[in-house]
Amino acid sequence: MGAAGFSDGHRGRKVKVVVFLACLWCLVSLSCAGRLSASRQKLEVQKHLKRLNKPPIKTIQSPDGDIIDCVHISHQPAFDHPFLKDHKIQARPSYHPEGVFGENKMSMGPKERTNPITQLWHMNGKCPENTIPIRRTKKEDVLRSSSVKRYGKKKHRSVPKPRSADPDLTNESGHQHAIAYVEGDRYYGAKATINVWEPKIQQPNEFSLSQIWVLGGSFGEDLNSIEAGWQVSPDLYGDNNTRLFTYWTSDAYQATGCYNLLCSGFIQVNSEIAMGASISPVSAFRNSQYDISILIWKDPKEGHWWMQFGNDYVLGYWPSFLFSYLTESASMIEWGGEIVNSEPDGQHTSTQMGSGHFPEEGFGKSSYFRNIQVVDSSNNLKAPKDLGTFTEKSNCYDVQTGSNGDWGHYFYYGGPGRNPNCP
Ligand SMILES: *[C@@H]1O[C@H](CO)[C@@H](O)[C@H](O)[C@H]1NC(C)=O
Ligand SMILES: *[C@@H]1O[C@H](CO)[C@@H](O)[C@H](O)[C@H]1NC(C)=O
Repeated sequence: MGAAGFSDGHRGRKVKVVVFLACLWCLVSLSCAGRLSASRQKLEVQKHLKRLNKPPIKTIQSPDGDIIDCVHISHQPAFDHPFLKDHKIQARPSYHPEGVFGENKMSMGPKERTNPITQLWHMNGKCPENTIPIRRTKKEDVLRSSSVKRYGKKKHRSVPKPRSADPDLTNESGHQHAIAYVEGDRYYGAKATINVWEPKIQQPNEFSLSQIWVLGGSFGEDLNSIEAGWQVSPDLYGDNNTRLFTYWTSDAYQATGCYNLLCSGFIQVNSEIAMGASISPVSAFRNSQYDISILIWKDPKEGHWWMQFGNDYVLGYWPSFLFSYLTESASMIEWGGEIVNSEPDGQHTSTQMGSGHFPEEGFGKSSYFRNIQVVDSSNNLKAPKDLGTFTEKSNCYDVQTGSNGDWGHYFYYGGPGRNPNCP
């Protein structure tokens, strides 16, 4: 009994020691594995930053904390693309569409006068000729993303699909829209002047944007989209500033495309405007109103899709080979707002779209798109025929179109999100 007891006790101690050693080993190897994957991730982030941030000729510190790198035009990220190795940069488009609504023909009363707008970093310098300004990507920017691979890409298909309003799609991603659109023709571009605000974002993983979509193909896996406008996106930029942005994809937001210059594709030729940089000032409720004009059009000679910001800045172009359907023409144009409703606490988010006020409130209170135009097959800017509207939940965000002599076709859009009618 005693001997057995001794032997049992001995074995017990031995087991305890083995268990203890095993635990120790587990702990050590776990933290080792953790450290290993952490250092692998660090390496991956560094490699990605090196790909994105090209060696600058000059660097400008923006008051909002951004660093703007002036990078030689032939060293921009686009030229990492295998198809662009021998690409000759087009300094300017061969054709510029003209329309009835030249901005200088605006005849608004003094109260309604809108003001010119610039980018915040201009306060601290300019980029030299033959360079383009690029917002430097910081380590934190990449780390906020779900993965290095997804950084700079939209997480979900986020093109509103009017009329079908696929509820699964709406619910799956939480993206909500209030838009005007045209379809059923061939479009070679689109234009609008967009009121600029700084909508409040409730959760960092949400965003609010106001943009033009130039769309080609079906709404399936092969959707082609070129997008431009302004956005507030804490996850993408690390703050709540209103920023100029572009996006493109040729496969419904899957493998191709990105925001701004965060992948190779868009070729920038302009030295004054940085994509992803803050625009300033923004409109204030019942006070000064600011807006930006955006024109996207297809160069009939080269087939590239060009983008112009304001009256003066031709930013650059998306080479036509990036796309499948858009190599021909666009089949649909959409204008309007989009937000993400992540339903924190099971309630609708209070993230604002536009100014955060409904269309009924009108100028100075609700956000607008004015001078909405499309580029037709003869490459002229024209008023859109049969402008439709679409919103998933008009009690959360709404849209109202109109037209008059000063503004041409226009609409007010947006809303506050959560409210008694949008719980
Ligand atoms: C979205 O899902 C919620 C429950 O998860 C449901 O109550 C609601 O009706 C759905 N909305 C749509 C538009 O299908
Ligand atoms: C952005 O705004 C939200 C509230 O709308 C605030 O909680 C957050 O701190 C802001 N983030 C930054 C970086 O200023």
